[in-house]
Amino acid sequence: TEPLSAPPRTGSICWQRLLFTASLFTFWSSPTSAQATIDLVPPLVAEGKNVLLLVHNLPENLNIIYWYKGITTTDDYEIARYLLSTNESVEGLAHSRRETIFRNGSLLIENVKQNDTGVYTLQSLDSRGNKKDTSVQLYVHPLLSKPYITSNNSSPVEGEDSVALTCEPGTQNTTYLWWINGQSLSEGDRLELSEGNRTLTLLSVTRNDTGPYECETSNLVSANRSDAFYLNVTYGPDAPTISPPDSYFRSGTNLSLSCHATSNPPAQYSWLINEKPQPSSQELFIPNITTNHSGSYACLVYNSATGLNRTTVKNVTVLEPVSQPSIRVTNDTVKEKDSVVFTCVSGDSEISIQWIFNNQNLKLTDRMMLSENNSRLSIDPVEGEDAGEYQCEVSNLVSSKKSSSISLIVNTDPGQGSSGLSGGAIAGIVVGAGAGVALIAGLGYFLYSRKTGRGSDQHNLTEHTPSASNHSPGPSDNSPKKVDEVPYSVLDFNAQKPKQPAPASSASETVYSQVKKN
Ligand SMILES: *[C@@H]1O[C@H](CO)[C@@H](O)[C@H](O)[C@H]1NC(C)=O
Ligand SMILES: *[C@@H]1O[C@H](CO)[C@@H](O)[C@H](O)[C@H]1NC(C)=O
Ligand SMILES: *[C@@H]1O[C@H](CO)[C@@H](O)[C@H](O)[C@H]1NC(C)=O
Ligand SMILES: *[C@@H]1O[C@H](CO)[C@@H](O)[C@H](O)[C@H]1NC(C)=O
Ligand SMILES: *[C@@H]1O[C@H](CO)[C@@H](O)[C@H](O)[C@H]1NC(C)=O
Ligand SMILES: *[C@@H]1O[C@H](CO)[C@@H](O)[C@H](O)[C@H]1NC(C)=O
Ligand SMILES: *[C@@H]1O[C@H](CO)[C@@H](O)[C@H](O)[C@H]1NC(C)=O
Ligand SMILES: *[C@@H]1O[C@H](CO)[C@@H](O)[C@H](O)[C@H]1NC(C)=O
Ligand SMILES: *[C@@H]1O[C@H](CO)[C@@H](O)[C@H](O)[C@H]1NC(C)=O
Ligand SMILES: *[C@@H]1O[C@H](CO)[C@@H](O)[C@H](O)[C@H]1NC(C)=O
Ligand SMILES: *[C@@H]1O[C@H](CO)[C@@H](O)[C@H](O)[C@H]1NC(C)=O
Ligand SMILES: *[C@@H]1O[C@H](CO)[C@@H](O)[C@H](O)[C@H]1NC(C)=O
Repeated sequence: TEPLSAPPRTGSICWQRLLFTASLFTFWSSPTSAQATIDLVPPLVAEGKNVLLLVHNLPENLNIIYWYKGITTTDDYEIARYLLSTNESVEGLAHSRRETIFRNGSLLIENVKQNDTGVYTLQSLDSRGNKKDTSVQLYVHPLLSKPYITSNNSSPVEGEDSVALTCEPGTQNTTYLWWINGQSLSEGDRLELSEGNRTLTLLSVTRNDTGPYECETSNLVSANRSDAFYLNVTYGPDAPTISPPDSYFRSGTNLSLSCHATSNPPAQYSWLINEKPQPSSQELFIPNITTNHSGSYACLVYNSATGLNRTTVKNVTVLEPVSQPSIRVTNDTVKEKDSVVFTCVSGDSEISIQWIFNNQNLKLTDRMMLSENNSRLSIDPVEGEDAGEYQCEVSNLVSSKKSSSISLIVNTDPGQGSSGLSGGAIAGIVVGAGAGVALIAGLGYFLYSRKTGRGSDQHNLTEHTPSASNHSPGPSDNSPKKVDEVPYSVLDFNAQKPKQPAPASSASETVYSQVKKN
């Protein structure tokens, strides 16, 4: 790396003198001796690095060593020469201040440029005037800069546009490689590579072609990967969805609808109620709706980039909640083998009716029959196991309400010893007979419940007294439309007790009055 000591002017003079000397010896140049060889050290030369053109087998008795750029050994192409007699090196016209010539013939080129690529010729001149030329090819491999990706369309439209991605910069003798989503690329139906893989063409892009894309450039001396590139594929809007998905809403509630459509860029939202445009928004909120709010609710979405719009319509039906139904029975005290018919009375339309027995959905037996719309339940013949609490429940799509309950009492003939008489029934009869006052009956009921855990059976059987039958038309007639939806339960029984004024009434009458109230 030490700079050449000789100034150019001096070198030029020496060169002319020596050339003259050399010409004198041209005539008796001797037969060839061993040929010099030149190696590149290192063999792969990267731009910016140093390379030594290393000479072996240099002939003996040399006076001057010349290096030329190219194969033409004229002044214009001389890089430098070495005068062995004085150990002096002299720069030539083609010197670029980065070359150093050594006594052993080797030439060092520092910080090589791409335009240093080419043929270099060594010429040796021996003391007898013999000249020998040896050439070597130097190829400077460029150091690749970090590549980047360009696209010929910054926001292509899904299904319409094809996009060409190009890995920049373009450099010859460079290998180009692509990655999509971190996977090395495999050419497919919609992918094309061209220009030695420098350009990747996506035919008819989809939203799934967003990327990231990366490209890598490499040659023998370097490799570089680009930053990730994302394609902004514009698409949609897809058909919007309206949530919640319900179509039926209860009057008095708030209607809150939200619309969503997949779209890039995000869609613009607006609503139409019965085709009448509303102020633009994604959410629609109407407080305290009434049946007048039933209608068609359309969500319109629009994508300004694709110019497409889509609409989804939801038919909203606002329903009044059902009012409480009443329940009637032909006779709430029946003998075994009699028949009984319950009727569920509701002022509402578009309802469905369910029957409830002892607070559970009634399980139909083959002795039971329901009318077409479920409003009438017939039991024929009645058996002891049918005794209990009956309710009906009406519902529409937004609400449901239960009637009050009716206790069905089934008189069994003790003389018959019917197999249908359950153990619970027998116990109930015993308690019922022994109870003179409500307090005792209540206590007996309580104790029995604790002992057997079958409170509802007990309840039914305490009603099983002759006096109860006198009031039998009562329960069905006196079923006011109550708003209260609390299901009737055993606990209510005691709470309502004082409402029966008759002091002489038995425990079972108290029970009965409760049925009547509900
Ligand atoms: C030139 O250099 C060589 C090796 O370093 C040395 O042997 C020789 O004496 C030198 N000649 C002159 C004239 O300095
Ligand atoms: C010639 O000299 C240079 C610089 O001193 C050295 O790097 C190189 O190895 C030498 N070449 C030979 C063949 O000895
Ligand atoms: C070679 O390239 C360098 C820059 O890389 C430039 O400065 C120089 O002038 C070029 N030389 C020739 C002979 O073109
Ligand atoms: C994608 O392109 C669309 C249409 O030109 C533009 O509105 C949107 O902002 C772009 N998105 C990104 C993330 O650049
Ligand atoms: C981008 O390149 C693709 C593939 O060559 C071509 O089909 C498309 O028309 C080009 N798009 C633009 C905007 O030039
Ligand atoms: C590419 O490489 C070949 C051989 O390695 C060489 O001949 C050619 O000049 C190179 N091209 C460029 C532009 O460097
Ligand atoms: C281009 O890439 C494909 C697949 O990645 C590969 O098979 C092919 O050899 C490459 N061609 C060139 C010229 O690099
Ligand atoms: C995008 O990819 C998803 C999942 O792989 C696929 O279900 C969908 O159809 C694709 N969309 C397009 C437009 O290709
Ligand atoms: C809802 O509307 C009804 C009549 O449409 C009105 O009686 C009621 O007070 C309203 N409730 C609320 C919370 O605004
Ligand atoms: C929606 O698209 C239709 C045609 O596809 C067009 O007639 C209508 O004007 C568009 N509406 C909006 C709001 O862009
Ligand atoms: C909404 O109601 C209209 C008219 O009753 C009917 O034509 C349309 O199919 C309904 N739409 C939906 C989504 O139910
Ligand atoms: C109810 O049935 C019982 C027993 O079958 C009967 O004694 C009573 O008279 C009936 N009551 C009415 C109102 O039909």
